[in-house]
Amino acid sequence: MKIFLRTYGCQMNEYDTELIRSILLKGGYAFTDSEVEADVILLNTCSVREKANRTVFGLVHRIRHDRQGRPAIYGILGCMATNLKEELLNDTHLDIDLIAGPDSYRQLPELIRMAGESKSFDVTLSETETYADVTPNRESAANAWIAIMRGCNNFCSYCVVPYTRGRERSRDPDGILNEARTLVDEGFRQVTLLGQNVNSYHFNGVTFPDLLEQICAIDGLRRVWWTSPHPKDVADRLIEVIADNPRICRHIHLPLQSGSDEILAQMNRPYTQAHYLNLVDKIRTRCPGIAITTDIIVGFPGETDAQFQETVKVFETVGYDAAFIFKYSPRKQTRAARDYPDDVPDEVKTQRIVALNELQQTWALRRNEGLIGTTQEIMIEAVREDVIEGRTIQNKRVILDKNPELQSPCTSYISNSPENRGAGEPGDFRSVEITHATPHLLKGHLM
Ligand code: SAH
Ligand code: SF4
Ligand code: F3S
Repeated sequence: MKIFLRTYGCQMNEYDTELIRSILLKGGYAFTDSEVEADVILLNTCSVREKANRTVFGLVHRIRHDRQGRPAIYGILGCMATNLKEELLNDTHLDIDLIAGPDSYRQLPELIRMAGESKSFDVTLSETETYADVTPNRESAANAWIAIMRGCNNFCSYCVVPYTRGRERSRDPDGILNEARTLVDEGFRQVTLLGQNVNSYHFNGVTFPDLLEQICAIDGLRRVWWTSPHPKDVADRLIEVIADNPRICRHIHLPLQSGSDEILAQMNRPYTQAHYLNLVDKIRTRCPGIAITTDIIVGFPGETDAQFQETVKVFETVGYDAAFIFKYSPRKQTRAARDYPDDVPDEVKTQRIVALNELQQTWALRRNEGLIGTTQEIMIEAVREDVIEGRTIQNKRVILDKNPELQSPCTSYISNSPENRGAGEPGDFRSVEITHATPHLLKGHLM
């Protein structure tokens, strides 16, 4: 049986797809890139905004159309599965055969077998499942994700994640450290620690800064990143650990959501604008040059123009390197959807998103232009036909024109360190002079 598997949503969902591939390969299944030839169509889905749901519904209909009546098992995995189980099972038009939530992937081989006969589903949320013993089937060669915790206990009033992924649970640090050491032996040079609220990690007294320090001490590991944090859990000690460990990427994602204290309170985000700005100051003082990115929701119920201007003010004060800006979308089960009417008109949400995006583009360009003329060490992530792509320690994408000399086994004009010999492979480190900048990427050439 051949499986077509497509992923939507956040990095955690991409990571889950690596777990799913591993579980299914072990279960005797093979994979195909062709949605027409596959026997099983699995979509690992996101439910964070209504648009994400609609994309998946549209895709199911399109695949059915392209297959022209050829039968297949259709399965919805991930956050939509837990969020919309009843609707999916009852929708005769979509006709989904299999539904599996984020904690049910071990059952997938069995669920697929059962789906051949009747509808099969498992959306039970676990308080303990961390897939600690499943080795993800990774596609990338330079950076490896490791989920160190799953679930979320924060219940931000707008957010569906605590309902789709259940309660917070952390993995045993020994298992995480062993996995990271094995990855280094396999040739990975960066690990990214993942969690819905990664910095609330704790296991038998081991906190997130402790774990980060231990990961940084692994021989041969060049870079460590982590996402996605909650500002309330960015303790002084975490900032110190970042400041003291040059292997930790100089990039912190610090989701603000709104600059207005009233809206933050309604969102159940337990910080104020002043606290957040103070945090940014502390981080920049201890970690100069660090890139700061954020997430914003515009048009939260009741958001007035004056409250929106508070978000604009934070943008002007912080000058983010990048920002992901979303229109508020009411989600089933959440407190905001229950208690507050979605009363900001769509045109107003659009105006606010456009205004913030414009402001953000200017800042992103300014931040990136500030790097022109500097030398950056990049980790090569992909070597394509014409270009090489890599990332700086600030996690910024850099595009290099492909230089034939980069392919040679030993390039004497670069330093003699082993890492710099035989470059041109994902995971290699190179010194690059930045020559151009756009709001979203940098261009450069080898030193
Ligand atoms: N755990 C992560 C975020 C997960 S969702 C964190 O707390 O940072 C990613 C982003 O989607 C959120 O930061 C938020 O900006 C956005 N988001 C979540 N729920 C939303 C909703 N109902 N409407 C619009 N955007 C939403
Ligand atoms: Fe959602 Fe808030 Fe948890 Fe992030 S911290 S996943 S926004 S509830
Ligand atoms: Fe989406 Fe689930 Fe991630 S709702 S953002 S895939 S945690």
